[in-house]
Amino acid sequence: MQLREILSTALATAPLAVSAAGTLGFAVGNTNPDGSCKVQSDFEADFQAIQSNTDAQLVRTYSSSDIFGNPCHTPSEVLPAAKNAGIKVLLGMWPDGGAYDKEKAAIDEADPTSFGDTLYGITIGSEGMYRGTYDGDQLLGWISDMQKSYPDTLLGTADSWNCWNNGSMDAIITSGIQLILANGFAYWQYQDISNATKTYFDDMAAALGHVQDVTGSLDKVHFMNGETGWPGTGGSDAGAAKAGDDNMETYWHSAVCGLLDWGVDLFWFEAFDEPNKADAIGDNGQIASEKHWGSFNSDRSPKFDMHC
Ligand SMILES: *[C@@H]1O[C@H](CO)[C@@H](O)[C@H](O)[C@H]1NC(C)=O
Ligand SMILES: *[C@@H]1O[C@H](CO)[C@@H](O)[C@H](O)[C@H]1NC(C)=O
Repeated sequence: MQLREILSTALATAPLAVSAAGTLGFAVGNTNPDGSCKVQSDFEADFQAIQSNTDAQLVRTYSSSDIFGNPCHTPSEVLPAAKNAGIKVLLGMWPDGGAYDKEKAAIDEADPTSFGDTLYGITIGSEGMYRGTYDGDQLLGWISDMQKSYPDTLLGTADSWNCWNNGSMDAIITSGIQLILANGFAYWQYQDISNATKTYFDDMAAALGHVQDVTGSLDKVHFMNGETGWPGTGGSDAGAAKAGDDNMETYWHSAVCGLLDWGVDLFWFEAFDEPNKADAIGDNGQIASEKHWGSFNSDRSPKFDMHC
């Protein structure tokens, strides 16, 4: 039975016994609320908050240098902090807009493989295929280059669940990449909170099912949900999807705890509110606030109980 079917069955039947739970991770930004680059002590404070309020064992970052010209040296700061805290890091590279070489240099500078198990892996790109900021051939080239430089490191790439599902990334799936992160937001599908968990499970089952079909294997490539989340109070609505801390908490306990119960690893987007983050044009074409997606406030206080 494919996990697609297992997940579909999961929706129809209550679990009698929970097998190995999935691993919970958090997406963390690399700047402080005042816009400055996070240094080791900032990440240590982040991890202290995450570890005292959640069961997470993993975090992911997005860019390693900084696409806006402010050199953050994130890998060199986050890895020592994570090693001290005993948490693992999936280091992100943001290669869009010609930044690949700069991003790789910031990874190299940190000597990430010297951190042992603290380095969970490295991701090359996040939703660039969905946004159209790079194409499959570019991504394949970067993956191949990283495979040569980091042959013993888990390498992955993140994109929207529908890109993994609809055939446009099949060449990536078969590239030898070891880790696939499929992002899924019921919120951006304008779902009322009452239908959000079903939508999220359907998205993940569709993406995973396609990856399994293309690889002809249940587990040849490690599959994770790269991002899910729900905007809290102060955030923008998207159709029937209403921002608010209550809905965020409901989504956490139903969708996040539900998928973890079924053994799928996932990253919550995101750990901390980012009051300095610029508004973006949302998937619905309207201006959307990106400031309130944290399950923690920007002062690192938790918005609700995040234990499942
Ligand atoms: C796959 O989905 C993405 C995101 O919705 C879309 O941009 C792309 O055109 C789709 N590709 C195909 C082959 O359907
Ligand atoms: C609920 O979610 C499912 C799965 O995404 C979708 O097919 C269905 O149309 C949604 N229902 C409503 C009322 O939007």
